[in-house]
Amino acid sequence: MEDRDVVALDDPVGESLRGPHAHLARRVGRAVTYLPGVATFSSVSADADAAEWAELAQLLGGPDQFADMFSCPASPPPGWDPVFVLEGRQMIWPGARRAGEPGELGAESDGKVVELDPESVPEVLALVERTQPGPFWPRTHELGTYLGIRENGALVAMAGERLKPPGWTEISAVCTAPEARGRGYAAHLVSELVTRVMSRGVRPFLHVAEKNTAAIALYERLGFETRKHVTFRGFRTP
Ligand SMILES: CC(C)(COP(=O)(O)OP(=O)(O)OC[C@H]1O[C@@H](n2cnc3c(N)ncnc32)[C@H](O)[C@@H]1OP(=O)(O)O)[C@@H](O)C(=O)NCCC(=O)NCCS
Repeated sequence: MEDRDVVALDDPVGESLRGPHAHLARRVGRAVTYLPGVATFSSVSADADAAEWAELAQLLGGPDQFADMFSCPASPPPGWDPVFVLEGRQMIWPGARRAGEPGELGAESDGKVVELDPESVPEVLALVERTQPGPFWPRTHELGTYLGIRENGALVAMAGERLKPPGWTEISAVCTAPEARGRGYAAHLVSELVTRVMSRGVRPFLHVAEKNTAAIALYERLGFETRKHVTFRGFRTP
């Protein structure tokens, strides 16, 4: 079922920045990246030539800059030093399937899912720092809706929306504070996001590190299916 919509998932950063996230994009030629503070992800064509990589270097501010290529499979020219390589997978929500009922939140919680507003950013950043679900910056919340669960008023779990290639919304920043794990919070928040995303007529997808077996098991149990294995890579501009 590799229709046009699904092909957009092969370049989720570029497709988001040329589409629903165009208002958060910076471009030089064909190279594209997010505004500072929103995300570091950049994209070039899968068959980018040296000129396009030079456009990306210019876009990022010249030499010795971090080029966070996300899952882009293109290989940079000599001189672009690797900063990190991380094996992962892309998982998608199958077809028109609806999310299961998340059910009641347990007594430990404040009993409801809340939308996290810009004032929540300091506690969101603190939870991300403690749980390391993946990169998150002060303006990342502008990419979509972020939901949280509180215990005695303190944020203990969150999940939200990140990349938006046409037809899709990525679920991201899924995390629960260590002392609140195993209470179904992550499953509840992801199910709630799946319902919200599907109600807009688009489909959820997500990325997860291959070594994160607990998260992969959670996503599979909820109904996500692996579409493909990806390699996340970052470089330093020459
Ligand atoms: C993965 C994570 C979000 C799960 O949060 P949670 O609120 O504890 O998840 P839930 O309570 O909804 O549990 C879902 C299932 O996963 C299991 N589970 C949760 N965390 C687990 C862990 N660390 N190891 C093994 N199993 C785990 C639960 O037992 C539960 O299974 P069950 O329903 O069959 O009993 C949490 O461990 C976390 O924050 N990890 C660090 C950040 C991260 O890796 N995020 C994912 C990025 S893609």
